[in-house]
Amino acid sequence: MKDIAVIYSFNTRNTKNVAKEIIKHFGSAVKIDELNAETIDGPTFMKYTNLILGVPTWFDGELPNYWDEFVPELETLDLSGKNIAIFGNGDQVNYPENFVDGVGIMAEIVESRGARVVGYTSAEGYNFESSRAYRNGKFCGLAIDLENQSELNTPRIKKWVEQLKKEFE
Ligand SMILES: Cc1cc2nc3c(=O)[nH]c(=O)nc-3n(C[C@H](O)[C@H](O)[C@H](O)COP(=O)(O)O)c2cc1C
Repeated sequence: MKDIAVIYSFNTRNTKNVAKEIIKHFGSAVKIDELNAETIDGPTFMKYTNLILGVPTWFDGELPNYWDEFVPELETLDLSGKNIAIFGNGDQVNYPENFVDGVGIMAEIVESRGARVVGYTSAEGYNFESSRAYRNGKFCGLAIDLENQSELNTPRIKKWVEQLKKEFE
């Protein structure tokens, strides 16, 4: 497998915990670089073939500020040949109309630059009204709901990592 980076805000707690668990499940034989989403820049992003982005949803269906700040630069990059997997924390009980929207917003941005989004997961077992991450019965990434379904995190993360091991190049 070529280089893997996981990019998330080092200042978060929920997103950081999920990122650490993802890395753990890849196992020590797989080298994964951790990069801070708050300071990420285009040249660093471009070094990797396989990228895992941690994108929680904030502000009723929006990206967190730190991702928003990188979007203008992201939109200038040629992402063809990149495999991008996105996980996102959200809350399906308090935000059922915008559940993990951030995952879908980020997927649309990277796809518009030519990236291949990998790591789709079934939306079964979640209860929400609408989500920008929802496509034909699936999320275009991994939806994590620590507030309401924390007991499902570990099995969901483990399964996702096994899937990414096959989908990454
Ligand atoms: C002000 C606020 C707005 C939020 N908006 C959404 C939302 O629109 N959709 C969603 O799924 N979750 C939403 N959430 C839930 C967060 O995504 C969730 O708490 C997540 O675990 C935060 O992760 P972080 O602390 O790593 O950023 C919101 C939470 C807060 C406090």
